[in-house]
Amino acid sequence: AIHPLLLCGGSGTRLWPLSRKSYPKQFATLTGEESLFQASARRLSGAGFAAPMVITGSDFRFIVLEQLAAVEIAPAATLIEPEGRNTAPAILAAALVLEAQSPGALMLVAPSDHVIPDAARFRAAVQAAAPVAEAGQLVTFGIRPDRAETGYGWLAMSQKPEADFAPVPQPLKGFVEKPDLAKAEALLAGGEHLWNAGIFLFRSDAMIAAFETYAPDMLADVRRAVTEAEKDLGFTRLDPEAWGDLDDISIDYAVMEKADNLSVVPYGGAWSDLGGWDAVWRESGPDADGVVTNGPATSIDCSDTLLRAETDSQQLVGIGLKDVIAVAMSDAVLVAHKDRAQDVKKAVAVLKAKG
Ligand code: GDD
Ligand code: MG
Repeated sequence: AIHPLLLCGGSGTRLWPLSRKSYPKQFATLTGEESLFQASARRLSGAGFAAPMVITGSDFRFIVLEQLAAVEIAPAATLIEPEGRNTAPAILAAALVLEAQSPGALMLVAPSDHVIPDAARFRAAVQAAAPVAEAGQLVTFGIRPDRAETGYGWLAMSQKPEADFAPVPQPLKGFVEKPDLAKAEALLAGGEHLWNAGIFLFRSDAMIAAFETYAPDMLADVRRAVTEAEKDLGFTRLDPEAWGDLDDISIDYAVMEKADNLSVVPYGGAWSDLGGWDAVWRESGPDADGVVTNGPATSIDCSDTLLRAETDSQQLVGIGLKDVIAVAMSDAVLVAHKDRAQDVKKAVAVLKAKG
């Protein structure tokens, strides 16, 4: 069976004011009925999948359990990070826990804030990746790029994917994490790269071996954090002292850019990292004028605009707007140009500095 690991730690500041430190975006209901986290957990359940592991911060441990219970999923383990140190330590800690339980088991790392509507197609791509991962490869999933995105990793393929994007594994020539705009434009134009979906399949021992090679100090600290972990009401609290020494680094920089045993399985279904309000607008199905409104919001002659009111007692009306994001909460209102959606994280930094 494949053991999913749901990453559930980022604070999602680019979706302020809906996403807060105390209630990050993956738990909010953004485009559908269930939260992104619940949808991610359900997508990776059923035949061929073991119960998921979850890694999150202490503040979110009860939201995690509540939201999983609501979709009738019982986690195999809930790991609590003393502090977020990005995805490298989080993934390594889970790989060590899994390796101790079932050596060489297949682990699928999945962010909990992605939109992947066709769950069956996605599961089929994961199953297609399994034999390659069994053989010791670190498998990535590749998305057809349609813009020079600087917020993603780019995968250098050794051959063109099939026209229908069939999930056929192939070795990777390289991995470029978050290129600058000039580089991203070149990669898009070259036509030999896919976007990294941020989802990885590997044997737990293969990932541990990669850390042994590329980040041995981190391996030592994380191993200690796992060995000294405290069991608390079904949660596994990683040891804060060992965790305190860790660098803040993502798996992409710590391992993927360096490893030489990478493969990719193309994924041709719809995929989106709801990384900002522009993505929420795109994924919410804009009408013929490009407008997205939720219940209490009203658009009069707007185009290419998102109007969201998060309280029932408040009206939000946009008139003659173009390329605007407006999100009204009871205690905060965001009004931004749609092209500047990625800069919303700056607002959070500025507000934090103001205290
Ligand atoms: N538990 C835990 N702890 N989870 C974390 C932490 C942490 O410290 N930091 C981030 N995460 C979770 C986030 O909540 C998210 O679900 C996932 O890990 C990925 O982190 P992001 O911060 O969203 O990464 P990214 O989007 O900038 O980049 C990654 O994903 C892209 C595709 O969405 C990279 O893998 C890119 O290469 C990739 O293209
Ligand atoms: Mg992301």
